[in-house]
Amino acid sequence: MSAFYVTTPIYYVNGEPHAGHAYTTIVADALARYHRLKGNDVFFLTGVDEHGANIHKAAEDAGLAPQDYCDKMAPIFIKLWKRLNISHDIFMRTTSDMHKRGAEKFLTALYDSGDVYKGSYEGHYCRPCERFVPEKELTDEKICPIHKLPLEWLEEENYFFRLSKYQDRLLAHFQENPDFVYPAARRNELLSVLDSGLEDISISRSSVSWGISLPFDPEHIVYVWIEALMNYMTALGYEIGSEQYHTFWPADVHIMAKDITRFHALIWPAILMATNLPLPKQVVAHGWLTKDGEALSKTRDIVIDMDTDIETYGLDAFRYYLLREFSFGNDGDYRPARLHARYNADLANDLGNLLNRVLGLVNKNFEGVPEPTTPGEFDEEITAMAQTTVDKLDEHIKAFAFDAALETTWEFVRRINRYVQQTQVWTLAKPETKPRMGTILYNSLEALRFISVLISPFVPDTADQIQEQIGLSEFDTILEWGRLPVGLTVSRGEPIFPRVDMKKQKKPQPKQATQPKQKKEKETSSLIPFVDFQKLDLRVARILSAEPIEGADRLLKLQVDLGTETRQLVAGIAEHYKPDALLDKQVIVVANLEPATIRGVESHGMILAGSGDSVVLATLETEMPLGTQVR
Ligand code: ME8
Ligand code: MG
Repeated sequence: MSAFYVTTPIYYVNGEPHAGHAYTTIVADALARYHRLKGNDVFFLTGVDEHGANIHKAAEDAGLAPQDYCDKMAPIFIKLWKRLNISHDIFMRTTSDMHKRGAEKFLTALYDSGDVYKGSYEGHYCRPCERFVPEKELTDEKICPIHKLPLEWLEEENYFFRLSKYQDRLLAHFQENPDFVYPAARRNELLSVLDSGLEDISISRSSVSWGISLPFDPEHIVYVWIEALMNYMTALGYEIGSEQYHTFWPADVHIMAKDITRFHALIWPAILMATNLPLPKQVVAHGWLTKDGEALSKTRDIVIDMDTDIETYGLDAFRYYLLREFSFGNDGDYRPARLHARYNADLANDLGNLLNRVLGLVNKNFEGVPEPTTPGEFDEEITAMAQTTVDKLDEHIKAFAFDAALETTWEFVRRINRYVQQTQVWTLAKPETKPRMGTILYNSLEALRFISVLISPFVPDTADQIQEQIGLSEFDTILEWGRLPVGLTVSRGEPIFPRVDMKKQKKPQPKQATQPKQKKEKETSSLIPFVDFQKLDLRVARILSAEPIEGADRLLKLQVDLGTETRQLVAGIAEHYKPDALLDKQVIVVANLEPATIRGVESHGMILAGSGDSVVLATLETEMPLGTQVR
């Protein structure tokens, strides 16, 4: 068993946490849970950053004393982490006594290193960043490159840390430890910062009152970033040199987004070097979660409505979507329509239906988990794949490739679905084939147990539900094939991922989607005979031109080439496609629709599109000759 210490940033309390903070924290949670699963001794830290001018101002704006303001905000974070099923071992607050005493001890050690000196500072300051923006990054408008807000001019006397002195040692550390900063894009960015030379940094503020005083000069308050970084050690009991501190420091992974890697991978190691303390093993940065391409921001009010999505799809679907859809180091745009698609395809269909189907067959044909007596075709492939999936998953997690980790697991899920299909297990209930049926179902159940263990770091509640339904009263995490006891009573519970209709979502639907009310008919009438389907004349066409229709914001007038003729039609896609983006696209057209006049424009047919929260044109996987029938 080895110790594993993972941290998120401690978030500023000057606003409520949003989906970006949720993403980092869910990632760290998945890692923490994964390491616990592997039997490691895990310490998982998250928390809040409560000092500094920015928080002071937020408190003032709220009409509260700073401490009261923090006491009001911190529980909002705690509540969200509870809702997101975050399994942190500590929720760190920088207003805690433990942190204050630890920071003072650390600052004394830093001062004693001889690399702290007094000087004066002036420059352009970004309050949301809590930093002086270096000359190199300044534009003529004097706005913050990150927050796009005007900078303040600040002049003051303060203490400096001789960061420049550590340039060579930092560079050597980067070179000797290629994984110190991950991914490579961030590492290279920092290498070029190192290359261009490090300036000494100010580590105190005399104009700020809300924070921790320097033990060697109480007139000054420690710069909030220096104080915040120390939390990773003070949280463990650095002040008293506790056993916990010795077990878990240095941290294995500091997780964050790319905005704050410099602080973690240059300044933090340098002050640790100055104080002769071990450096964290890895600084890992993910990209921005964006909304319509823009970075989320408390300051600029660009937000994602995660509440609605969690309510609609459940927490695990939200966690799954974030971890599966985004490629860890890169920016990713949050799209409810993609969450919906992932929910239906991966969760409800691939996994939910598999569980339901297998349990249904077990229930119908056996008393509990059947005995695997009769090996046959595909069995060995399945057991081998169970093991390779475990190994591949581990490789992906080491590379923070959560998307690949989940995809690998889902390849196994889909393989088991195919196993059920290939063996036609439902046809094997006759006495002579029943032992084989039992074997296939046992293997499927054991595969589902494996799957539940593998997904448990990412979607813990779902994992629990699966094991419960296959009859295990205690969660069995051991990945050895054949552990599932024969004879357990399975309970086919509620579907773990009930279908979610787009209509159930709270968001307003595009009006075009509402069909004229049909007369109420018997339920079976929703099925149509094949001959009715054959009446549709669906054809491949190419868009020749697209233009807006005056007075109709949602409509476009299109000319399409059907191979044999050119058609004009009207499509309600103007909110989703710019006319120029449509030119030359191949689409699928209903060619034999009755003509209609829409807002005074004639329409001869319609084009097919997926229409939910967003509208996406249907097209063929590769281009085909114009006029080709689609069926
Ligand atoms: O920087 N996408 O706190 P902070 C992804 N207190 N992640 C995002 C995000 C987005 N759009 N927006 C925020 C601070 N984050 C300091 C940290 S640590 C010693 C001190 C996440 O509240 C991401 O993890 O500004 C980012 O690094 C962090 O929130 C910044 O949080
Ligand atoms: Mg920030």
